[in-house]
Amino acid sequence: MNPPTPSTITIDGPAASGKSTIGELLARHLDYLYFDTGVMYRAVTWAALYYGVPIDDEAAVTALAERLRIDVAPPNVDDGCDPVDGRDPVDGRQYTVLADGADVTWEIRTPAVNAHVSPVSAYPGVRRAMVAQQRRVAAGGRVVMVGRDIGTVVLPDADLKLYLDASVEERARRRWREVRARGEETDYDAVLGSMRRRDDIDSNREDSPLRVAADAIVLDTTDMSVEAVLAETERLVEGGGWTAE
Ligand code: DC
Repeated sequence: MNPPTPSTITIDGPAASGKSTIGELLARHLDYLYFDTGVMYRAVTWAALYYGVPIDDEAAVTALAERLRIDVAPPNVDDGCDPVDGRDPVDGRQYTVLADGADVTWEIRTPAVNAHVSPVSAYPGVRRAMVAQQRRVAAGGRVVMVGRDIGTVVLPDADLKLYLDASVEERARRRWREVRARGEETDYDAVLGSMRRRDDIDSNREDSPLRVAADAIVLDTTDMSVEAVLAETERLVEGGGWTAE
């Protein structure tokens, strides 16, 4: 008899540890929904900057998070092209992110949002609002949900919990390459500094800090190719090793 396939899969880890690349590929392989929860915190941060809500005004940012409408839809920019390999062939997006109906898919990746998203995501009221939505998305199962606290807080009963890690230097190199590939100028040391600051805030905040869940399987991807990480995660999913708790 084949081992059962986990229906709810969580992938946590620090920025640029490979979570979204692996999450997307694994979800496509299993024909599951892929949901990257980081985009929600990014959308709130974008909206605060856009509407002029001061980032350090916790009550105002929380009220904004509670009322902001965030939608994550399949990758369809309105250009008449069908997605290829799940991505939009024109600008490579994995999905379209809408905040109050505005397409903010790329705006949520700017240095301004990168610089402010960690403090915004540390506010407990913001987290409460986002976690409630994330649990609704995952309720139907057949989902790969990616973030920082998915296995520890959002879905503590998930069937399979993965934690991807890599050295901060390697993660900064990956982020630096991504930004350059989008045609933007960037300096490696600046990316490394910003990555260290975000790691520090994400790991040391009081509410739902980045932690390895007790029952998570940890993969250090520092010296692994994407193909090798994907092969290992598929082996874990399909080999049934995840049931051996
Ligand atoms: O994964 P990312 O870089 O897009 O995440 C953006 C920020 O959101 C990051 O600083 C941590 C935060 N985040 C979080 O606190 N909880 C999550 N489940 C996902 C992201």
